[in-house]
Amino acid sequence: MPPRKTIVAPSILACDFSRLGTEIARATGGGADWIHCDVMDGHFVDNISFGPAIVEAASRSTHLPLDVHLMIDRPDLYVPRFSRVASSITCHVEAPHDVSRTLQAIRDAGCLAGLAISPPTPLEKIRPHWGQFDLLLVMTVNPGYGGQPFLPEMLEKVRLAAEWRERENQDFHIEVDGGITVDTAAPSVEAGASVLVAGTSVFKAGDAAAEIAAIRAVG
Ligand code: DX5
Ligand code: ZN
Repeated sequence: MPPRKTIVAPSILACDFSRLGTEIARATGGGADWIHCDVMDGHFVDNISFGPAIVEAASRSTHLPLDVHLMIDRPDLYVPRFSRVASSITCHVEAPHDVSRTLQAIRDAGCLAGLAISPPTPLEKIRPHWGQFDLLLVMTVNPGYGGQPFLPEMLEKVRLAAEWRERENQDFHIEVDGGITVDTAAPSVEAGASVLVAGTSVFKAGDAAAEIAAIRAVG
């Protein structure tokens, strides 16, 4: 498998929501590849972020692919409400829904299907869905909040997923999400990740473009 280009996906959860359009333009102009949209329902995670209306607004502020991360109990009910503007839609393997049906619905809607796995969940949990996703999102923090410290023990999960991918000739992105900075980007890419979600490190930086370039350079 040829090496994958590193994709930097700033998460708007960390941006100044009072200036959402400007912030997204700042990341877009700053060289981001994707815009990561963290949707939270207050059930699957102990936080509520935003929904379809905000993601729709985000799509009017950038030409970049929207990488929608559904930290919600029933992603199957919401795929149609995001698929019009999303490039990829990721659901959690731990959420109470029919994971295979949701992944198929995402693909049927014309989006890349993503499967996310939280830190306590063993990688084996994704085995029944092998071949059903285009993107594996390995959470490197516990879902629910930005600005948390990176969990380096998650790199073992990334390495194992990359090993399975090579050995079984599968083709999917491995995305890491949470605590990605210049310092944690390199080991993540080395382990096999190619999509790097960076919220706090980009949006809290004075110079978003420099931060994005630095992450991509070490990634
Ligand atoms: C956490 C979200 C992450 C987060 C990014 O539940 O999935 O995408 O917003 O984290 P930081 O701010 O650490 O980059
Ligand atoms: Zn996320």
